[in-house]
Amino acid sequence: MAEIVLGIGSAHTPQLHTMAKDWHIRGNRDMQDGVPFFYKGERMKYAELEKARAADGFRAEVNLEEGQRTLEKCYQTIDELHETFKAANIDVAVIFGNDQREIFKNDLRPAFTVMACDEFVNKPRTDEQKTRLPPGIEISDHGHLPDDEIVLKGAPELGLQVVDSLIEDEFDIAISTEQHFPPEEVSELGGMPHAYGFIYKQIIRNNHLPTLPVDLNTFCPPNQPRVGRCIDFGKAVGKAILNWESDARVALIATGGMSHFVVEPEFDHKIINAMIDHDWDHIRSYHNGHFQAGNSEIKSWIACSAALAEAGLAGKLVDYQTLYRTPGGTGSSCCFMTWE
Ligand SMILES: [Fe+2]
Repeated sequence: MAEIVLGIGSAHTPQLHTMAKDWHIRGNRDMQDGVPFFYKGERMKYAELEKARAADGFRAEVNLEEGQRTLEKCYQTIDELHETFKAANIDVAVIFGNDQREIFKNDLRPAFTVMACDEFVNKPRTDEQKTRLPPGIEISDHGHLPDDEIVLKGAPELGLQVVDSLIEDEFDIAISTEQHFPPEEVSELGGMPHAYGFIYKQIIRNNHLPTLPVDLNTFCPPNQPRVGRCIDFGKAVGKAILNWESDARVALIATGGMSHFVVEPEFDHKIINAMIDHDWDHIRSYHNGHFQAGNSEIKSWIACSAALAEAGLAGKLVDYQTLYRTPGGTGSSCCFMTWE
């Protein structure tokens, strides 16, 4: 049977690939309520957020020097995660991630999708696609998009095994055996969502091993699987992989999170500790308001950590950094974990 030998969790965020001196592009947009904000599970406007956080102690961190130093620390940690991945001699990587309206548009958006494709194409955006982006995104594209078109191997055999096992366990999931592309006239990219592109580029790097993207619609209401369902889903995926008749060494990777676009370290650490301790009841206690906007990607981590728990691997926090870009505490928190 296949063996799950490694877990990796890594933040991905445009802010990670934007020099601190340019964070104001997104910061200014934040202050004009250009993105949805949720703080402590409640939707709020930027002005309300700044007021609500007036007594929080993060303000000393809102400066360019501190921001750039924090970025450099994140790059070191990402290098370490890549080395850990390389040393584990992995045959197949299963990536728990999300599409952020990049390939699934309004015509169809499944709650869970197993991408059991033979291969995946990833490529830079066209000039026309770049015109459809919000401010401050193109500048960070180098973090997840290749310089030229690349073709990555899929893991269709494992994908079919996972789908069959999930359906047997009464999860009604979607499957794609050919890469899904949105219509050209609305597309913002021509390859894989940034959640997966980041892992290909930053963690797996030039090691072109087969990958199985397992997509959770964390981001887009209303059919976001609730957090309890993500725990159960992750456990079922873990079981499916462990029952795969193969001698493959499998890594599970979570991509995204933790809290953003409002940085909430206290919430993040409660979730991180609960994932390490398998305290699923604690995680189930949060309502869906806690998992909106960028925070929603924490569900990919939760599903991945539940799958890793099935394999008996122990989670460890490698690094946690906060990237603040406004006095209201908007920005990105960056968490990095391993399970071995
Ligand atoms: Fe993301």
